[in-house]
Amino acid sequence: MDYKDELIEEIRELKEKHNAVILSHVYQEGDIQDIADFVGDSLGLSRKAVETNADIIVFCGVLFMAETAYILNPDKKVLIPDPNAGCFLADTATLSKLKAKKREYPNAAVVSYVNSSAQIKAYSDVCCTSANAIQVVESIPSKEILFIPDRNLADYVAEHTDKKIIPWDGYCLVHENISIETIQRLKDLHPNAEIVVHPECKADVRHIANYIGSTSAMARYISESPAKEFIVGTEDNFVYRVRRDNPDKIFYPVGTKCIGMRRITLEKLRDSLLEMKYEITIPENIRRKAKKALDKMLEVV
Ligand code: 13P
Ligand code: SF4
Repeated sequence: MDYKDELIEEIRELKEKHNAVILSHVYQEGDIQDIADFVGDSLGLSRKAVETNADIIVFCGVLFMAETAYILNPDKKVLIPDPNAGCFLADTATLSKLKAKKREYPNAAVVSYVNSSAQIKAYSDVCCTSANAIQVVESIPSKEILFIPDRNLADYVAEHTDKKIIPWDGYCLVHENISIETIQRLKDLHPNAEIVVHPECKADVRHIANYIGSTSAMARYISESPAKEFIVGTEDNFVYRVRRDNPDKIFYPVGTKCIGMRRITLEKLRDSLLEMKYEITIPENIRRKAKKALDKMLEVV
């Protein structure tokens, strides 16, 4: 047995011992995805966090995702293997800036993308993910929406609703850096390839795509499409999953790796289960308010 096999064995034993469940976002490294009990997008992971009977949730993803699991499950211990696994996009939204924006648009409802802190969620009317953003916006009575923090997702939603969408100036570095020129070059080389991108991509990239969706929706589309080649506009590790599920298809990823996601390693996952660290805690008044915004979202889809 080599070092990696021993680590994996140890993680499995510790997981059994503590009745823990490992949830992994699809942007995690392949080793982490393989050992997880469930791999998914932000919406799927939120739902799994609610359904699980485990006593402990170990969240392999970035901080806002682990916080979401805790907000929905305050009676469970929620661990993140590295507390510095942050999301660049989530960090662009601060409460003071949001309060100022709200003063500017007093009649607007606040819809926050789950890629935001617990404090921002607590101040929001409702949350959304990339999988349900349009439906969430359509579900609320307000005609004016302060949509935070991703400007590209806001723009994508605005293209699909008659409501007034007031964007925030945040963006994800991984998706913002995906360029139309790179995609076009690949398309010239592989004319039969379909272009599949995440809605956090810029408008020019979205507009040449055959399909736009959350990570789970993209994975589903790729599996169901008769096409054999795909240019994939999202975080680089996503292709690990689709390659595994579709060994007969060819993928040309154009995204870089998310720095926050990469902080999670097998060693840190083992240490997390061994030492019960790092436990997510959120002040109860904030957690309760944030839960309301998340529950409202989960009622929609
Ligand atoms: P998904 O909800 O589509 O998985 O996206 C999460 C994310 O962080 C995108 O960068
Ligand atoms: Fe945040 Fe971008 Fe990383 Fe997704 S890929 S977790 S939006 S920094």
